[in-house]
Amino acid sequence: MQDRIRNADMFNRLMSAEQAAGLIKPGMTVAMSGFTGAGYPKAVPQALAARMEAAASAGDPFRIKVLTGASTAPELDGALAKVNGMELRLPYQSDPALRERINNGEIDYIDMHLSHVAQHTWSGFFGNIDVAVIEVAGVLEDGRLIPSSSVGNNKTWLEQADKVILEVNRFQPAGLEGMHDIYYGTALPPDRKPIPLIRPDDRIGEPYLRVDPAKIVAVVATDAPDRNSPFSAPDEASQRIAGHLLDFFTNEIKQGRLTKKLLPLQSGVGNIANAVLAALSESGYEDLTAYTEVIQDGMLELIRKGVLKMASATSFSLSAAGMKEFNNNLDFYRTRILLRPQEISNHPELIRRLGCIAMNGMIEADIYGNVNSTHIAGSKVMNGIGGSGDFARNGWLSIFMSPSTAKAGSISGIVPMVSHVDHTEHDTMVIVTEQGLADLRGLAPKQRAQLIIDRCTHPDYRPMLQDYFDRAKRESYGKHTPHLLNEALSWHQRFIETGSMHHYPVGALSGGTR
Ligand code: COA
Repeated sequence: MQDRIRNADMFNRLMSAEQAAGLIKPGMTVAMSGFTGAGYPKAVPQALAARMEAAASAGDPFRIKVLTGASTAPELDGALAKVNGMELRLPYQSDPALRERINNGEIDYIDMHLSHVAQHTWSGFFGNIDVAVIEVAGVLEDGRLIPSSSVGNNKTWLEQADKVILEVNRFQPAGLEGMHDIYYGTALPPDRKPIPLIRPDDRIGEPYLRVDPAKIVAVVATDAPDRNSPFSAPDEASQRIAGHLLDFFTNEIKQGRLTKKLLPLQSGVGNIANAVLAALSESGYEDLTAYTEVIQDGMLELIRKGVLKMASATSFSLSAAGMKEFNNNLDFYRTRILLRPQEISNHPELIRRLGCIAMNGMIEADIYGNVNSTHIAGSKVMNGIGGSGDFARNGWLSIFMSPSTAKAGSISGIVPMVSHVDHTEHDTMVIVTEQGLADLRGLAPKQRAQLIIDRCTHPDYRPMLQDYFDRAKRESYGKHTPHLLNEALSWHQRFIETGSMHHYPVGALSGGTR
């Protein structure tokens, strides 16, 4: 471990995960590293969960508040959720056990724009940060930290926390050193200055995280991989979505609105996003750039093929195969990937100025283009808004993609009115399903509605939506954005009551796309 912990003073603070977890007291606010299953602490949260379980068995349960960069993994969110050890969680999660507790009403969850976390922390909205638990790849002689496979909010946590526990993970490649760009020029208004980033590959900071050594109360050695979730091969619906998008880009170039270099790409997580990246890799594009949150397998492939000349993000989210590819070719990728704090990767002003092409998944859209990214039937949270709002509101192009149906066709991805709004009709420029693509730019509400019904809706649901829209145009209280308010959410209610949004039983439908 001495090669990873080069500072003697820090080396002397090595202790077990159990000892370190013992420094976290009931009710504390604990900020942890981690973003999309990368760079999260792996030993201390599990030791803490074991302590919580023992305390609960002894009739003395306790919980803590947990802040992170974004989603983590079973060793953190899963372990703490299973022992009911969290009273509050923010700003993003995707863990099944945690999701269940949140939707049972047992954990308060603040689902928020990822770019807001740092400034809300600085402004004190989450109270005092008692402890930060941060995974790093190493500690330099002078005490600065080599960041791990994600940066997320680590700069903020290290600055704001009273005490710091470091997990030094030997499993993370030593070659990560030098890939990060930690910008220390942020401030709160009215003292903010322009952030001097003009192109996605600009380096504006330093490769290491600073920390006050006096705050470090424990150093824990670990040797474990990130979540490394596998990606499935793109299914037919994802491939068709990707095909529609590529045709759209071709037309944008023809119209002179984009060049062959496109604009910096932002791509959400998940299999559809991966399918889009896979399609781009076969498309003949060269020297593209990405200004995004997450580097997933598809991006590595684009970089390897020269389609993408570089990618700026805040985190990796690789499968085991992607991790192997990255490790085997680290020197190649190191000069082509930059990891930044999430307040910079998701900075609205930078996203607007760079002109990102934002491509994100959604749960559902309505006929006017409002998008729900987070809630099933308006009340059950899936994951969270993550960075989708940062990019959709500010991108040059904001694209939402989804199969046109869910759950074997029993749910339509296009509904009369969304049951929860994350992105309003004013932010949504393009909606694409496997059925087709609707370019909503320059259209008034009724024009948007007809286009979405014609292009994006599954044939099983198209007549129902057309019927709703036609009656709304005749009977609506106002004729600007016609709605039948007593019916607008009836599709969701029908789903809750019968298991299907359709009038017909599920078996009678032609089958779904996811
Ligand atoms: N009603 C009910 N369930 C739905 C649904 C709907 N309208 N739409 C999707 N789902 C379910 C799917 O059936 C699937 O369920 P399963 O896990 O039980 O199979 C699950 O939601 C995920 O859907 P999938 O089709 O696999 O798409 P995805 O992996 O691309 O996820 C989101 C879609 C919206 C959940 C995901 O993109 C997300 O969390 N977005 C918000 C955050 C974000 O955009 N981040 C981007 C910046 S990093």
